[in-house]
Amino acid sequence: METTQKYISENKQRFVDELIDLLKIPSVSADPSFSKDVFATAEMVANRLKEAGAENIEVCETAGYPIVYGDKIFDVNLPTVLVYGHYDVQPADPIDLWTSPAFEPVIKKTDIHPEGAIFARGACDDKGQMYMHVKAFEAMMNTNELPCNVKFMIEGEEEVGSENLGIFVQNNHERLKADVILVSDTGMLANDVPSITTGLRGLSYVEVEVTGPNRDLHSGLYGGCVANPINILAKMIASLHDENNKITVPGFYDKVVGLTDEERAEMAKAPFSKGAYCKALDIDEVMGEAGYSTMERGSIRPTLDVNGIWGGYTGQGAKTVIASQAFAKISMRLVPDQEPEEITNLFLKHFESIAPAGTKVKVTPHHGGEPAVTPIDSIGYKAASIAYENTFGKKPIPVRSGGSIPIVAMFEKELGLKSILMGFGLDSDAIHSPNEHFGLFNFYKGIETIPHFFVAYTELMKQ
Ligand code: BES
Ligand code: MN
Ligand code: MN
Repeated sequence: METTQKYISENKQRFVDELIDLLKIPSVSADPSFSKDVFATAEMVANRLKEAGAENIEVCETAGYPIVYGDKIFDVNLPTVLVYGHYDVQPADPIDLWTSPAFEPVIKKTDIHPEGAIFARGACDDKGQMYMHVKAFEAMMNTNELPCNVKFMIEGEEEVGSENLGIFVQNNHERLKADVILVSDTGMLANDVPSITTGLRGLSYVEVEVTGPNRDLHSGLYGGCVANPINILAKMIASLHDENNKITVPGFYDKVVGLTDEERAEMAKAPFSKGAYCKALDIDEVMGEAGYSTMERGSIRPTLDVNGIWGGYTGQGAKTVIASQAFAKISMRLVPDQEPEEITNLFLKHFESIAPAGTKVKVTPHHGGEPAVTPIDSIGYKAASIAYENTFGKKPIPVRSGGSIPIVAMFEKELGLKSILMGFGLDSDAIHSPNEHFGLFNFYKGIETIPHFFVAYTELMKQ
């Protein structure tokens, strides 16, 4: 292990330079105009895996963007770790709000990252975190210290719902056979408060459309006489939460598994400062479901949020018009044991039922995903815990995250494997936002910690 760590410290600068090259390709999976770049990124990842020492490299075609596979099998009797990551990124918009261009990575210092952070779309989510694995693997391969088999599966459609990954997994059970899945696509509490993600929320996502009159109308001639779809949509959306910020969709909470008082008390031990939280977001107060802390609202409780809303005239100046239609995109974050399909249907029924006469409502479901939780008494978790303790000098805290990685539940169903979520990002890294960044401290810590996982996992599996 010392040799591996020495190799890492001697090659740090090159690792960052290589990541910067990877970040320069705008692999935005949501926007077809970047299609070539997404494919090019898959090729680059495949080449990097090969250079790092992986074998059986394949850029596996799918109906969408390819899945990059590679492995190193020493002995089928040794434990096998399957590393998952994604090379696609979110769109960069709103691009005007970036302080430097999203696909021209630069290293800048911030209060939280005094050693510097790489600013670029995908720096943290997930190119930077995925690349930690490639470099940790390279280090162990070069020093002959890799104690187990490793397989890589890096996809290019995570940010658009991983639609083709399910089929790939179904068709590749044998190739993907492993003992555990290792994922770095989440965060930790702070650079001096290491944590391991033990849960992810699920997701239901719908688009709603409210239609009133058959055409846009003069708001003087018709105003006050017909349902205005934008007014109505605003009212309908407002009614989806009650005065306690509980979601009003009937049946929404029926399957929510509450936490025991002990579990809640355990969670409350994680450090959280409301003042610092508000200050970082420039808000003077938090808001959420009555009876729960901010940490709980953001992890163990389900939510409903409008992600976008539009309709009518939004151009320069004033145009007096009643729009024929109004639209919104709505996401619901789910917790165990809520089922995305069931929740989407409950929403659909409810939303249609509250539409007033004089309007028509249409609800279109988008991709969703199931929530996931990982136990902390598994060999994988224990190995991760040892790994963090070795590199951070502290035991990591188990934390349930508010984000979603739908493939985690899918892997469990399809492959019968649990995922260990060793994330090294921070909430303040602005993933999906302008000025996304990833601390150099975090990038290096990830590269240093991952080898300890392989060693600890292999040791524990022998027992
Ligand atoms: N890596 C994130 C999810 C994440 C980030 C989980 C931080 C926990 C902590 C992932 O790339 C993502 O953005 N997922 C989407 C869902 C997906 C179906 C588009 C999300 O959570 O919105
Ligand atoms: Mn991600
Ligand atoms: Mn993401």
